[in-house]
Amino acid sequence: MVVGTVLVTGGTGYIGSFTSLTLLENDYQVVIVDNLYNSSEVALDRIELICGKRPIFHKVDITDEAALDKVFEAHPEIDSAVGESGEIPLEYYRVNVGGSISLLRSMERHNVTNVVFSSSATVYGDATRYPNMIPIPEHCPIGPTNTYGRTKSMIETVITDHVNAQRNNLQKAGKAFEQWNGALLRYFNPCGAHPSGLMGEDPQGVPYNLLPLLGRVATGDRPKLLVFGDDYPSRDGTAIRDYIHVVDLAKGHLSALKYLREKKPGLLACNLGSGRGSTVFEMIKAFSKVVGRDLPYDVVPRRQGDVLDLTANPSMANELLHWKTELAMEDACADLWKWVSNNPKGYRQDPPAELLEALKKSKA
Ligand SMILES: NC(=O)c1ccc[n+]([C@@H]2O[C@H](COP(=O)([O-])OP(=O)(O)OC[C@H]3O[C@@H](n4cnc5c(N)ncnc54)[C@H](O)[C@@H]3O)[C@@H](O)[C@H]2O)c1
Repeated sequence: MVVGTVLVTGGTGYIGSFTSLTLLENDYQVVIVDNLYNSSEVALDRIELICGKRPIFHKVDITDEAALDKVFEAHPEIDSAVGESGEIPLEYYRVNVGGSISLLRSMERHNVTNVVFSSSATVYGDATRYPNMIPIPEHCPIGPTNTYGRTKSMIETVITDHVNAQRNNLQKAGKAFEQWNGALLRYFNPCGAHPSGLMGEDPQGVPYNLLPLLGRVATGDRPKLLVFGDDYPSRDGTAIRDYIHVVDLAKGHLSALKYLREKKPGLLACNLGSGRGSTVFEMIKAFSKVVGRDLPYDVVPRRQGDVLDLTANPSMANELLHWKTELAMEDACADLWKWVSNNPKGYRQDPPAELLEALKKSKA
């Protein structure tokens, strides 16, 4: 039984592929739109390998509204959209903001009224500028400190205005309006890989985030890790982040979608985090433990736009979405290492036979 059809933009990327997998595992049909700028079609094979179902795939750029229209026309059963795409430096505004507007316009034309948006904790900026805002609750004022965060906050505003306008206009006309809903999911630091070792992050260029970089150091692809600043007022001088396992994060999308469909809340801005903050040094230690040796690093000056502490207060997601993290950053470290050590070429190689065998056994 199919419970709904979801368009996942950026669905072959890191978070999008896990979200697609989770949706398929929970009886949704998934239509992926991705231009493969930072991902590979092999992600589709791995999703199918793990859950036995394959997402429908369209190679489309989300800034191409006419192509998006065609996708909605080909799949009139699409009832919601999950937007994951857009991690392109210099093109942030065109792709993130412009692409989201194209998507919303095309959704409106095809009467698709629920949107789940991949926002980020970076919209909060430096939450320590206010007293008592760590862990960060959703009512912490927005104040991004970098371009990426500003595009995310801008899209949150666009979605909020759009959903509110749709609801108000329909209500004024005496029509049903509650079908218009948006979830702004503020991800903390997604990391980890599928516990099977068969799916993980496979960026086309140099990764930007701490754990994938540590993975590259462990495999010898990079000589050492650069730690950006050890002079923060934290317990060991390095910045604090809330690391959330990508499998938990994917389940958060499912819970949010369910909440929109059942409760029809209008807008919901919601943190997806664990509530536990870890420093860079703590992460290096945890990952080194999994790898079985110390990993080399150099401390360099702070990076512009980085903040001291992004740790979530996840109470809203816990209570409203009935979602909480089930895995810890130690699990993410172990799963990431299983992924990178078994697949040094990511999706550009076949999966190792023993992992396939283990998957088969786990399904039997
Ligand atoms: N990974 C993180 O740490 C993190 C944290 C917070 C929020 N996010 C957000 O989550 C989303 C997914 O991030 P990710 O880490 O999975 O990145 P990713 O690069 O792995 O995934 C993005 C996907 O979008 C595709 N894409 C890029 N431009 C596109 C375009 N114009 N048209 C169609 N597809 C396009 C890429 O090919 C890729 O498959 C992004 O919006 C990101 O900003 C990520």
